[in-house]
Amino acid sequence: MTPRVHLSEHVPAEVEQALAASFEIVPSVTEADGVVAMLTVTVDDAYLEAAGPQLKIVANYAVGVNNIDLDAARRRGIVVSNTPDVLTGATAEIALTLMLSLLRRVTEGDRFVRRQEPWQFSLEFMLGERLAGKTVLIVGSGRIGRETARLVEAFGAVPVLAGRDADLDALLGEADIVSLHVPLNAETRHLIDARRLQLMKSSAVLINTARGPVVDEAALAEALQRGTIAGAGLDVYEREPEVTESLLGLENVVLAPHLGSATRDTRVAMGMLCVDALRAVLLEGRTPANAVT
Ligand code: DGY
Repeated sequence: MTPRVHLSEHVPAEVEQALAASFEIVPSVTEADGVVAMLTVTVDDAYLEAAGPQLKIVANYAVGVNNIDLDAARRRGIVVSNTPDVLTGATAEIALTLMLSLLRRVTEGDRFVRRQEPWQFSLEFMLGERLAGKTVLIVGSGRIGRETARLVEAFGAVPVLAGRDADLDALLGEADIVSLHVPLNAETRHLIDARRLQLMKSSAVLINTARGPVVDEAALAEALQRGTIAGAGLDVYEREPEVTESLLGLENVVLAPHLGSATRDTRVAMGMLCVDALRAVLLEGRTPANAVT
């Protein structure tokens, strides 16, 4: 019998075709041997219980697996896979984009031009800062953190990679830019809170392309309003897609709608990793290379 796969959301056509070549696509997880889950779906005990004992694999269409209760999956012998490597470059590029947009005031300038405010070139108009020469603290030394370090170095900045054992409190005070690249888990929830924002230089900016709850967003909004830090570039939010309202009116904040992996090639490559994992488990009876349980 052809194994059955449920898609929690629409996937790119190339990915759907690849899935349809090996599996029967079914409308409900209760009929599925495997599921392709988006990061917006909470796969917890209740979800897995409702899915039923036939479910063998959850292929998460993301590298971050914070939407999945891994212990609940393990208890049931369900394989969970993710999509590492293929989105590393795209996500690091978004971190760099947020840094440059913020430092060079690009989105602020864009809003200014669209308002059709009167202006002409002048020597001290809307001056920003160069990335070159800045100390960039990269919090998280995994693939995306290391790639971001490589990119900022190419722009003449000095990356400082802070892994798990780093003394974050000590490093925060030295950085001009703090860029977050850690997975969301119990240890990293509110890693950047009011106390740590206070440790940053008042001229420093915070970049978050990891997961929203890594930052206490209310504390960040307050720090930005008070001038505790100079700016923020955010691709992710604590209660995504909701954004703390006071952030919306701040010129020194660049906001993106979770675009880290948002290029067509990247999203197709992520989907193909899901297809490979489903094939490994459901057709070949083996553990996929990108299994996280
Ligand atoms: C991920 O993969 O975890 C990104 O946040 C979305 O692609």
